[in-house]
Amino acid sequence: MINVNTKYLGLNLKNPLIVGSSRLTGELNSIRKCVEKGASAIVLKSLFEEQIVEEAQSKLTKNNIDEHYFWFKEAEKKVMDLSFDQRMQLYLDFVLNVKTNVDVPIISSINCLSSKGWPAFASEIEKAGADALELNIGIFPFNTSSKSAEIENTYFDIVREVKANVNIPVSVKIGPYFTNILSFANGLADAGADGIVLFNRFFRPDIDINTRKLVANDNFSSAGDYKMPMRWIALLAASKLNVDLVASDGVHNYEAVIKNILTGANAVQLCSTLYLNGIDVIEKIHNDIITWMEKQGFNSLDDFRSSSLELQSTDASFERTQYIKRSFND
Ligand SMILES: Cc1cc2nc3c(=O)[nH]c(=O)nc-3n(C[C@H](O)[C@H](O)[C@H](O)COP(=O)(O)O)c2cc1C
Repeated sequence: MINVNTKYLGLNLKNPLIVGSSRLTGELNSIRKCVEKGASAIVLKSLFEEQIVEEAQSKLTKNNIDEHYFWFKEAEKKVMDLSFDQRMQLYLDFVLNVKTNVDVPIISSINCLSSKGWPAFASEIEKAGADALELNIGIFPFNTSSKSAEIENTYFDIVREVKANVNIPVSVKIGPYFTNILSFANGLADAGADGIVLFNRFFRPDIDINTRKLVANDNFSSAGDYKMPMRWIALLAASKLNVDLVASDGVHNYEAVIKNILTGANAVQLCSTLYLNGIDVIEKIHNDIITWMEKQGFNSLDDFRSSSLELQSTDASFERTQYIKRSFND
């Protein structure tokens, strides 16, 4: 009997297919559908720090409110009109509502830019019933004075402060833009992170060449994009970092799931593929994993998890950054 159970953040997941944070996870109906189709856990749509910091209010004009600022689009206007406490309560009610209506682990997500305010709120999220917390931290300074170490320290401070206030496990979803990801990931682990999600796919504005205006779109990944997070999962897993690792960005099919497990991931997060191929794709990926395992003679994910690591240590392909010829005869 094939068993695709996995463990992430101490949670027992029935398979490695977690639904990543997006508009789909900001609404109970689509969350229910994801669970029906086999999702093993749900990361709720992030509550954004910008949403609740009063000074940000003035920047949120009708023209620049979009999905990237709010955790569910239908609520934009409503959210704008609410006080800080009301906004918090709305989010906590949402967590409770999802938790009472679905039977898979619920991971709440908060987008933090600073350690202000979040620790106390994280504790409220725990009380509302979240099984874990994902910190979606994306700090993009654009100035000549902020030093890399200061920025990394802000991440560590956020993790330390939140961990001191909650008993549920905490993961950190990071972007790929760090000078030394291994050192940074070690810092997150030392600060108490239980897991790292690699990588967030940050908003990428585009230009409409006819109107010459900036346009916001949903910015979905492509099926080949899994290679960058997979490289870093491989390198971090090989370093025996003491945190769970989850792949996000470009996991569209069962092959990408298997490859990430082979390099050491605990699980993966699915997002763009659900928009592009429909929520039913969760069931297909699940079935395809089982079919592949049957063919390979594997009974559990642990039968092949991290099994590419031995190869990595002799081949070092994941560390290579340049295209070099292996020999002058190639
Ligand atoms: C429409 C949309 C909304 C998203 N909203 C969030 C969010 O609120 N919080 C977050 O951490 N990530 C958010 N993401 C990022 C996804 O969770 C995911 O990390 C990213 O899209 C890469 O995974 P994918 O290739 O499976 O899409 C969003 C992505 C999309 C496409």
